[in-house]
Amino acid sequence: MLFLGKEIPTPLTLASGILGISFSSLQRVIRDGAGMVTTKSLSIEPRIGHEGPIMAEFNGGLINSVGLTNPGIQDGLAEVEKFHQNCHGVVIVSVFGGNAAEFVELTKAVNDSSADILELNLSCPNVEDEFKRPFALMPDKTTEIVAAVAAVSRIPILAKLSPNSNDITTMAKLAEAAGAHGLTMINTLGHGMVIDAIARRPVLRNNFGGISGPCIKPLAIKLIHDVYQVVKIPILGTGGISTGLDAIEMMMAGASAVAVGTAVYDQGLNVFKSIRAEMEAFMETHGYADYSDLIGILEEN
Ligand SMILES: Cc1cc2nc3c(=O)[nH]c(=O)nc-3n(C[C@H](O)[C@H](O)[C@H](O)COP(=O)(O)O)c2cc1C
Repeated sequence: MLFLGKEIPTPLTLASGILGISFSSLQRVIRDGAGMVTTKSLSIEPRIGHEGPIMAEFNGGLINSVGLTNPGIQDGLAEVEKFHQNCHGVVIVSVFGGNAAEFVELTKAVNDSSADILELNLSCPNVEDEFKRPFALMPDKTTEIVAAVAAVSRIPILAKLSPNSNDITTMAKLAEAAGAHGLTMINTLGHGMVIDAIARRPVLRNNFGGISGPCIKPLAIKLIHDVYQVVKIPILGTGGISTGLDAIEMMMAGASAVAVGTAVYDQGLNVFKSIRAEMEAFMETHGYADYSDLIGILEEN
């Protein structure tokens, strides 16, 4: 099947921020059955991120306040080059800037690399202390950043949206109008808070964090369903996928491809193999010849 003009054997994708940027981890995901991998969000300069604990499990998902830890765009792109030396998988490079000019600088660096698709992380909830509200909650900022990047990018652009927006369909339409070639949705939900009752403290050092995993799946599916009705560009769906059936449901709601995050922590790297096998078994049993036959075919009651 094709996603943003790239031939992929399966719509399964590694979500951003789950396995860092090391080329060997990313290649392993492709070997295990994914069609695309997304890097950790890269900023212009390296970022240490927040003090630990930065991640905790709870019944239903994961809460994190990593704080965009990354080695910076130059080192990140060096891994992408190593990746492509002996692997044909599609690499989505995720970038994060503090304003439109930084996004443009990051885009120019990505133009000089072998990255296949550029993802704009407009929606990280974990750096509000530094960068204030995520851009994906601000219509003007979303338009400004996507338009500035679209004017210089040589590769297709995905705008990553936030479930915390009051009106995600408006944000999706604005991103499309500004030149995004596709949308990634959803980023983590919240802030949420998980408490250790014995310690009488939040489990995260940062007190609050973004919520991911199975508990956000119904929300991700509803928002993808809503956005699918109002845009023409493809959606990379993410949020709580841990089985082949989850992935199929998300595609039926309107996703053209699906990214897996938290389930990698829960099930290990074999999750791509198992989700792919479950998807193929479902399609064979129910008579779907191609992944693209699943996209948006939901019938409402
Ligand atoms: C530990 C962790 C780190 C993340 N880091 C990033 C990131 O750097 N950039 C980004 O766009 N999304 C990041 N995300 C969000 C995921 O890419 C994904 O959108 C979200 O977790 C929902 O998918 P899931 O429920 O399958 O995890 C991160 C998520 C987790 C759990």
